[in-house]
Amino acid sequence: MDIRENLQKISEELKQELLAIATVQELEALKVKVLGKKGSLTALLRGMGQLSPEERPKAGQLINETREQLTALLDEKQQALALKEKEERLLKEAIDVTEPRDLPQIGAVHPMQLVLNEVLDCFTSMGFSVAEGPEVELDHYNFELLNLPKNHPARDAQDTFYIDDNIVLRTHTSPVQARTMLSQKPPIRIVCPGRVFRADEMDATHSPVFHQIEGLVIDKDVTMGDLKGTLDAFAKRLYGNDIEVRFRPSFFPFTEPSAEVDLTCFNCHGKGCRVCKGTGWIEVLGCGMVNPKVLEMCGIDSKVYSGFAFGIGLERITMLRYGIKDLRLLFEGDLRFLKQFR
Ligand code: FA5
Ligand code: MG
Repeated sequence: MDIRENLQKISEELKQELLAIATVQELEALKVKVLGKKGSLTALLRGMGQLSPEERPKAGQLINETREQLTALLDEKQQALALKEKEERLLKEAIDVTEPRDLPQIGAVHPMQLVLNEVLDCFTSMGFSVAEGPEVELDHYNFELLNLPKNHPARDAQDTFYIDDNIVLRTHTSPVQARTMLSQKPPIRIVCPGRVFRADEMDATHSPVFHQIEGLVIDKDVTMGDLKGTLDAFAKRLYGNDIEVRFRPSFFPFTEPSAEVDLTCFNCHGKGCRVCKGTGWIEVLGCGMVNPKVLEMCGIDSKVYSGFAFGIGLERITMLRYGIKDLRLLFEGDLRFLKQFR
């Protein structure tokens, strides 16, 4: 066969096969089949030995031209394939940022934390600083320095969890009063939030573990008027100007005089219901003027200084703030309840 025809045939075949090629590997195989050591074009070059010396240069030129053409075709296809593969890869790796997805579960701040934040804001804006004390407490701070010596009948008012004769789970945050007076000089203005423990029954307004926010102010010329004004400001800040605050005379060994403060029941608005046990009021805190005996025991001269203290029930003021009818909801971790505070 004439060399020209052969080259023609090889070209045609390659062009035909190129059409069907879809991958770089297939292209590589075709390249080898035509231009490789054992390829069809290479075979033609080898066959040149049989030609006469006059024919050789012409044939060589023809073969080389075809080789160049075919190489160009293969390179072109190579580039087209590379581009196609890149586009496919990009398409596969693309992220659709607009695609809708499941929203992650977002937590909510617990209602007691919300109220605590408000209370701390309120008192720090009046110049109080925040203190802390231990939950496992010495009898000495929880009772004795608060004018509750061993065998004092008023100890029965708080059913105590004893760890041993001298160590208790604190029954109130008032031991922080004693700790603060012993470690700081007046003027003193602190609030102390914390967990407290009592062997109380669980009901709509009582839990054996609950939270109090203690307050203590010691300075010269502090009066009962300052106490009432401070607690009034606190109640109005939390519940608005229309809230009714009732100071009811009471007794605590560490304050004299003492009072308990009630707020109108949010549930029945004073008519009497299960939440307020028919009284129309909910007791939210105990307070009073610090007993001079306590001041003296804690190293403060009661002839120079006076002060007031209070202990707020955090669960109670949270119930009032959000109209929660049962304190147990605050401890159960029910998502249907907690989600409402998002
Ligand atoms: C006291 O604990 C005093 N230490 C308060 C005090 C501090 C008086 C400083 C004077 C000076 P009382 O036991 O009343 O007082 O408790 C205070 C508040 O804690 C109550 O008004 C109530 O709001 C809340 N409270 C008491 N017992 C429970 C309970 N079992 N569950 C939830 N809240 C309670
Ligand atoms: Mg009480």
